[in-house]
Amino acid sequence: MSARTIRFRVNGEPVELAGVDPLRRLIDVLREDLRLTGTKEGCGEGECGACTVLIDGEAALACLVPVCQVEGARVTTIEDPSLAPIGEAFLARGGVQCGICTPGAIAMTRAFLDERRRRGEPVDLEAARRALAGNLCRCTGYAGILASVLAAAGGEEGAE
Ligand code: FES
Ligand code: FES
Repeated sequence: MSARTIRFRVNGEPVELAGVDPLRRLIDVLREDLRLTGTKEGCGEGECGACTVLIDGEAALACLVPVCQVEGARVTTIEDPSLAPIGEAFLARGGVQCGICTPGAIAMTRAFLDERRRRGEPVDLEAARRALAGNLCRCTGYAGILASVLAAAGGEEGAE
């Protein structure tokens, strides 16, 4: 596929990439072209969830998405302020050690909490476990991550 101009939004800001290979991976565009290095690459094969970002509010693996697929879409990364309260919960509840999986886990948590709210369903441990089953962590043993997700949910309920 030949290079072309692709436009989308990242964290609320319009982005225009001229002369980009449409099959270039979204994670490379974010990290290398846009210098948004908060999104991490783990496996690069769609297996670990480290590269999770939001595309139009839905969780997606940036290592598998060619940039042409986000044309006209809203991409949200760990740098977006809407993810900051969840990040604070991860810090407070031991959901972070080396931090490689953390931006992806936080983005997945954002998608999870938003989906539960849309459906009017409560956030409980089992639902959190299912939602984050694809976000692998080599450090925390998951208890801290799940406690962080529940704390983030509680914080957002308290703020409503
Ligand atoms: Fe994308 Fe592992 S780096 S799923
Ligand atoms: Fe190290 Fe999760 S905190 S991989």
